[in-house]
Amino acid sequence: MAAAAVRALLRPAAVARRRPLVPVPVPVPVPPGRPLPAARGCSSAGPPFQFLQVQKAGAKGSVGLIRLQRPQALNALCEGLMAELRRALDAFEADAQVGAIVITGSDKAFAAGADIKEMQGKNFQQCYGGAFLAGWDRVATVRKPTIAAVNGYALGGGCELAMMCDIIYAGETAQFGQPEILLGTIPGAGGTQRLTRAVGKSLAMEMVLTGERISAAEAKAAGLVSKVFPVDKLLDAAISCAEKIAGNSKLVVAMAKESVNAAFETTLAEGNRTEKRLFYATFATDDRKEGMTAFVEKRKANFTDS
Ligand code: COA
Repeated sequence: MAAAAVRALLRPAAVARRRPLVPVPVPVPVPPGRPLPAARGCSSAGPPFQFLQVQKAGAKGSVGLIRLQRPQALNALCEGLMAELRRALDAFEADAQVGAIVITGSDKAFAAGADIKEMQGKNFQQCYGGAFLAGWDRVATVRKPTIAAVNGYALGGGCELAMMCDIIYAGETAQFGQPEILLGTIPGAGGTQRLTRAVGKSLAMEMVLTGERISAAEAKAAGLVSKVFPVDKLLDAAISCAEKIAGNSKLVVAMAKESVNAAFETTLAEGNRTEKRLFYATFATDDRKEGMTAFVEKRKANFTDS
C-alpha cells in the first residue's frame, strides 16, 4: 500500500508534542466494536484490529504504538484482544523501522484484568488442556523493548501485562493491583512472580493476599514503575522514551535487554556470564565500532543496526 494511502487511514494524526514540530499520531476514538484500520507495518499481518489501535509514532515512525481499545469492558483482556496483541507485536517485531514498542490503554483503564466473563465458565480441564493464558507470554518474549504507559486501572491481568513490559510509566491516577484473590483465584500470568521481583515480598504478599490496589505514587516508591506523569503527558513521555531507545543500535539494544532480563531469570553468576558474553559480542558489531569512533571523533554516532 502506498505510504500516502496508509497515512490517510491513520488520520487524524497530530497532537502537540513537547517538540511542537514533531507530530505524533494518536488513536481516533471509535465506537466500541467497530473494526479499526490496520496500521502501517501491520497491514499485511491479517484482518483489521477490533480491540486495538495500532500505528507507528515518533518523528521517524520508529515507535510501534498499540492502544488497547475495548472501552465497554475497561480493556478486559479477552482472548480475541490478546490474539490481536500478539499479531500487532509480531508485526512490529518484524518491522525494521520500529525500534521500541509502547502499549497503552485509555485514561480510565490500562486494562481491568483478564476477562472474568470469559473465565467464569471454565473448568480445570479447559484451562490445563488449552494452556489458558500461556499465549500472553508473547508480550514478555518480544525482543524489541516495550514500554507500558499506564493510566487508570491496571488490575489482575492488566497489571501482569504491564509487568511483562520492560519499562512501566504511570499516569498520576494509575492504580495497580492483583485482585484475583477476591474472585477466588490467584494471578496466572506471572503476577505472583513479577510483582514479587519488582516490589519485594512484603508488598507483593499484601497486594496478592488482600487484593488491595496501590497508587501510581506508591508503585513508583516501590520500584514497580520508573516514572509518573500527569495523565495527559503520559503517552508523549512514553513515546519520547521509546524514540530514544529506537535511536540506539537495535542490535545492541536487543543484547542489553537480553542481559537485563537475565537478572530476572537466572542466578547472579549465570546472569553475569550472560552479560559478559553479550558484552564481548558487541565488539563483533559495526555499531560498537561506530559508537566508540564517533565519541573519539566528537560527533554523533550513526548506527546501522549491524
Ligand atoms: N472482565 C470482564 N469485564 C470487566 C472486567 C473484567 N476484568 N472489569 C470490568 N469489566 C466490565 C464490567 O463487567 C462492566 O461491564 P457491564 O457494564 O457490562 O457490566 C464494565 O467493564 C465496567 O465496569 P464497572 O465495574 O461497571 O466499572 P467501575 O468503574 O464501577 O469499576 C473496576 C471498575 C475496575 C474497579 C471494576 O470493574 C472491577 O473490579 N473489575 C474487575 C477487576 C479484576 O478483578 N480484575 C482481575 C481479573 S482476573
